[in-house]
Amino acid sequence: MVIVMDSEATPDHIDGIVDVVTTAGGTAYVTRGVSRTIIGLVGDVQQFETLDLRAMPGVSDVLRISVPYKLVSRENHVSRSVVRVGGVPIGGEHMTLIAGPCAVETPEQTLAAARMARSAGAALLRGGAYKPRTSPYAFQGLGEAGLRILADVRAETGLPIVTEVVDAGDVELVAGYADMLQIGTRNMQNFALLQAAGEAGKPVMLKRGMSATIEEWLMAAEYIAQRGNLDIVLCERGIRTFEKATRNTLDLSAVPVAQQLSHLPVIVDPSHSGGKRDLVLPLSRAAIAVGADGIIVDVHPTPETALCDGPQALVGEDLAELADAVRTLPALVGRTLA
Ligand code: E4P
Ligand code: PEP
Repeated sequence: MVIVMDSEATPDHIDGIVDVVTTAGGTAYVTRGVSRTIIGLVGDVQQFETLDLRAMPGVSDVLRISVPYKLVSRENHVSRSVVRVGGVPIGGEHMTLIAGPCAVETPEQTLAAARMARSAGAALLRGGAYKPRTSPYAFQGLGEAGLRILADVRAETGLPIVTEVVDAGDVELVAGYADMLQIGTRNMQNFALLQAAGEAGKPVMLKRGMSATIEEWLMAAEYIAQRGNLDIVLCERGIRTFEKATRNTLDLSAVPVAQQLSHLPVIVDPSHSGGKRDLVLPLSRAAIAVGADGIIVDVHPTPETALCDGPQALVGEDLAELADAVRTLPALVGRTLA
């Protein structure tokens, strides 16, 4: 069950609901949005229905939500959300390009990649300081030193930063530098991390688990929302299938399906799905055409020396073609480049 508070609701009204629900043996999760507050109730729905919550001051509506991802569901939030990252919109009529190096390696490499990203039309800079690597011997990222490089590059270029956090214990530190926290495919069901990110006060990009259904992905997003944060962007980045020609199989159908089920913006990562430079452009075009709210793309000034995922990083002519695609294609589907 979800309680939608009206725009005039006061903190006392909200506390009043929480008290009544708690006294009835339930738990109330308060999520404060820009224009209204939503309270998700967990517990005995029959019992809640005896409480006459609709009559309590500040309550606009009481909804029984049938899906297991109540706060991120479109059932109680018909209009699609726009999430702002350092002032840059993701969602609505916008198509937002996020680009940057897979991993932060040096100040020079990160600045060069950020300039490439901006020249291609990116409004946000991506870059990992904490890298979730399959092999423990692979480059794991620079950690806080990488975050400091990102902050310097933001100061130099003005591009807000999207960066991954892989451990719940690091959320506070990473959130101190990041404009948006990224939770990667390998951590989509790391519930402690999701909850910590939900409390960090920064927008979160949640990548789809490589073997997760869309419903599992939305329930993972619900863990973040339940902790009070509805500034969540979903990212489809390809799933595991029997196909070996691509690194992952980009599930383009997940974009309209997730947009039908949830009010959250949905973006696509053509780099980690295709895994090869020559696939990034066609997959980016397809993502824009299918109605993605944004794309997140790897770029690198010298991909052949990259410490992570060089084969999928754009450079030179490929980047120029991406710039052309993001300049021209969004208008064909009623979007403008953010
Ligand atoms: C990059 O962003 C990821 O850390 C990388 O794709 C992980 O893959 P790998 O460690 O299997 O190379
Ligand atoms: C990334 O974008 O840096 C990343 C690790 O991606 P994914 O979690 O999709 O593999």
